[in-house]
Amino acid sequence: MSDPTKDSGHGAGAGEASPGDGTRAVRAGLPEPVKHEPTLPGPVFAAHFHLPGDPTGPYTYGRDENPTWTLLERAIGELEAPGQDDVETLVFPSGMAAISSVLFSQLHTGDVAVLPNDGYQALPLVRAQLEAYGIEVRTAPTGGDAQLDLLDGARLLWIETPSNPGLDVCDVRRLAEAAHARGALVAVDNTLATPLGQRPLELGADFTVASGTKQLTGHGDILLGYVAGRDAGAMASVRRWRKIAGAIAGPMEAWLAHRSIATLQLRVDRQNATALMLAQALRERPEVTGLRYPGLPDDPSHKIASQQMRRYGCVVSFTLPSRARADRFLDGLRLVDDATSFGGVRSTAERRGRWGGDAVPEGFVRLSVGAEDPADLVADVLHALDESAD
Ligand SMILES: Cc1ncc(COP(=O)(O)O)c(C=O)c1O
Repeated sequence: MSDPTKDSGHGAGAGEASPGDGTRAVRAGLPEPVKHEPTLPGPVFAAHFHLPGDPTGPYTYGRDENPTWTLLERAIGELEAPGQDDVETLVFPSGMAAISSVLFSQLHTGDVAVLPNDGYQALPLVRAQLEAYGIEVRTAPTGGDAQLDLLDGARLLWIETPSNPGLDVCDVRRLAEAAHARGALVAVDNTLATPLGQRPLELGADFTVASGTKQLTGHGDILLGYVAGRDAGAMASVRRWRKIAGAIAGPMEAWLAHRSIATLQLRVDRQNATALMLAQALRERPEVTGLRYPGLPDDPSHKIASQQMRRYGCVVSFTLPSRARADRFLDGLRLVDDATSFGGVRSTAERRGRWGGDAVPEGFVRLSVGAEDPADLVADVLHALDESAD
């Protein structure tokens, strides 16, 4: 893992030390101080704005723009692409709205898209919709950079790394170079890593896309998504799609997200460190198989993860011997809620097979590590394992 306390140097003037991730997170997107105004202005609730004369921006109608989005978009852009002023960020009401905005704005009938076959479980629904529009969809696993073999003639490559829920990692730089050599655009779902864990645009992607519902906002109380990209033309069509679909974030959600980003580095560092500790404890348990955490030195994903990630995420996946054992384990947890989603300050876990969408064993558990005291959480998980034994 590259040192997250060191920045890659973007944005700092000569002789100026570049700010660390914690500093960047607490200041992300803040406007210049104005006397008697709050540091982070409150949410702007407006369907329309005063607009005499010619209808020029920035703020005309609430489906097109909103000052609360502007500040949040600036904040996310500063984290995804520090110091790169040519990167544009757009927020959406959910991760799926963000994903759909890229796929449906960039792909047209007759195009070929390459998707992962082990990514977020709504991707097959997206695939069916793309195919209904006459777009050819090819899929391959994330691990082993298997999507490389499908790129001939592709218009867009969609990567999800680390993948949810299997936590496989692919080489973004290698895939992006191969895709670009064939004229394809590259989008990376950066949900699991967060911008403090990975910066896909620096690795060569054209778009970084994420569900802000997860660790970015981190409290399990809002849905949000975003797209960031450098190509002005491509981003203009994403923006146009947002306007046509009307897929816009509520000002309250956008403001809550911005407020939450101030603590992103604290949450991510705490949660990810505990996730590694938990993974190390789980690897000692004989009933646990298929343990995955990209931060474990012997994880199959670790080598490439350590080259392109700055932090490894808060999700640990593993398999218990049976569905019944996994259910008993989940039932025995006291500090971990049996719930879907991940990235929140309160730990959650679920038997992923209950949804039927992922190709995982019946006893497969995805556990999202929260901000509880590490020793308490590890003890709770080990206790539930003991209690759930046959
Ligand atoms: C990797 C990944 N991408 C996208 C999404 C969709 O995000 P949302 O639920 O905010 O629409 C999820 C949701 O779990 C996800 O895990």
